[in-house]
Amino acid sequence: MSRPITIIPSILAADYARLGDEVAAVDRAGGDRLHLDMIDGHIYKNMSFGPNMFQALRPYTTKPFDVHLMATPAHDWIEPLKKAGCDRILIHVGLENDLSGLIRLVKTYGMSVGLVLTRHDEAESVVPHLSDVALINVMTVDPGFGGQMFLDAMMPKVTRVRELIGDKPIELSVDGGITPVTAPLAARAGADSFVAGTAIFKSPLKDYASAITALRDAVQSALLKTPETV
Ligand code: DX5
Ligand code: ZN
Repeated sequence: MSRPITIIPSILAADYARLGDEVAAVDRAGGDRLHLDMIDGHIYKNMSFGPNMFQALRPYTTKPFDVHLMATPAHDWIEPLKKAGCDRILIHVGLENDLSGLIRLVKTYGMSVGLVLTRHDEAESVVPHLSDVALINVMTVDPGFGGQMFLDAMMPKVTRVRELIGDKPIELSVDGGITPVTAPLAARAGADSFVAGTAIFKSPLKDYASAITALRDAVQSALLKTPETV
């Protein structure tokens, strides 16, 4: 079974002084969706963007906006994110007391749900929610910052999530430290969707099309060399 390869630029590594143009550029360069890290400094000690920024960016692309929600209380941000034109909300399973309620709320607003697993979360924690989610994202760095080293140790979790997904139509993404070197490792472990900030926005000469193509090609050739195991 071959799955489409999805490449998702993360604007955390973009030039903040020209964010609209950056979004338009990765759209033209072949990015499939946009990954928007919303970090409020409470859970992870960084501060990034919020719904007002996403609303300002919305006219720069028609591609879907995935919000990686790292702001609290999460419930309070769902309506503003919908109004800002976001399409999917990625929720950290380990941060929510009422995960089912939050998933329901996101779906009530007509957005789709992704679940995020960090190194502290069991793969099995997604099982009760598999019929409600469009994506499962395994963090391949500790969340909060771009430009970190890829954690190989997360590969068994990727493989386990792939097993748990089975034939359900759920995208399996990895986020953090993704490059043409590390993306094939994640692809062989079972990932079909790749969030990349630094590898795209800080690529040599800022040639985003080449950076995105390099990621896609690296995954494609890794999968061709690997007998289908997942
Ligand atoms: C980190 C964020 C990532 C980040 C990845 O917490 O979730 O989306 O932008 O950045 P790179 O690709 O630079 O590791
Ligand atoms: Zn992210």
